[in-house]
Amino acid sequence: MEIRKVGVLGCGLMGSGIAQVAATAGFETVVKEVSDDLIAKGFGGIEKSLAKFAEKGTITSDQQREIRSRLSGTTSFAELADCDIIIEAIIENLEEKRSTYKQLDEICKPETIFASNTSSISITEMMTATSVERQRRFIGMHFFNPVPLMKLVEVVKTILTDDDVYEQAVDFGKKLGKVPVRAGDKTGFIVNRLLVPYMLDAIRALEEGVGSIVDIDNAMKLGCGYPMGPFTLGDFVGLDTTYYIAEIMFNEFREKRFAPPPLLKRMVLAGLYGRKSGRGFYDYKDPKNPTPMNLI
Ligand code: 3HC
Repeated sequence: MEIRKVGVLGCGLMGSGIAQVAATAGFETVVKEVSDDLIAKGFGGIEKSLAKFAEKGTITSDQQREIRSRLSGTTSFAELADCDIIIEAIIENLEEKRSTYKQLDEICKPETIFASNTSSISITEMMTATSVERQRRFIGMHFFNPVPLMKLVEVVKTILTDDDVYEQAVDFGKKLGKVPVRAGDKTGFIVNRLLVPYMLDAIRALEEGVGSIVDIDNAMKLGCGYPMGPFTLGDFVGLDTTYYIAEIMFNEFREKRFAPPPLLKRMVLAGLYGRKSGRGFYDYKDPKNPTPMNLI
């Protein structure tokens, strides 16, 4: 089966980015959300991103229109029934995901590949909400924020994924212009397995007075050539998301390095989620010139 039509579930930051790269790669792409407002919001982000690429000359204005014409939004599951692959990027809630997959399994054609963009939930736990046949066609495809710019996709195989389906997904990742890496279904896959303990350790270093927010960020940025220091990155990814991933990883591995530090928990309880809420390790009152928060 050749992949021609792509379905994306969720039009948030990740879903809209995935839809954008699929349409840019030439696939007919339909995005399902729970409301028209959320579709409009997600498509607004896509328009902005495409406009940036057009401004830079990465794409022409004709291409910009063509990409846009390959994208459609819907609030109905039925419109995903004939997709060749569906990439799910909805809220990181196991029950929500299982119920979504169950409904889709009943209406999608038998060949449809199901892929989850989860960053931390086990693919196997989602997969078991579907039929035995579908379980062979169930994988993880984990993208990185901002999806239109980040070149990586982790393609995740469970113990039941068919080899052919897996290779097709790897090939599809390449067609999206990404570099696929192969990962097993272990919570956090490759990137978060390494990135999350690093980010948590930075918070512990701050708690212990090793350095300030700005100094720790600068140290890793300038000393290691990372594009963002750990606190800027945490604010960018979302501290609620980071906390949630850390909790899941801690529950899976029961290792101290995955345990969210008390400061992170308190920040999330206080609504300091990072950029999206206007405050995290930095205050984004002036988004171009964030100032460090006084947290210790
Ligand atoms: N679409 C199109 N263009 C975009 C864009 C988008 N969505 N976002 C940014 N750009 C453009 C900007 O307009 C800018 O263009 P310019 O050079 O013409 O001004 C260019 O990209 C660079 O952006 P910025 O100047 O804002 O900033 P940077 O040079 O720092 O680049 C970045 C931005 C690519 C995000 C870079 O900082 C970076 O690589 N940061 C690390 C991101 C990262 O680690 N992501 C992974 C997070 S972990 C994750 O997602 C997994 C999850 O499970 C937690």
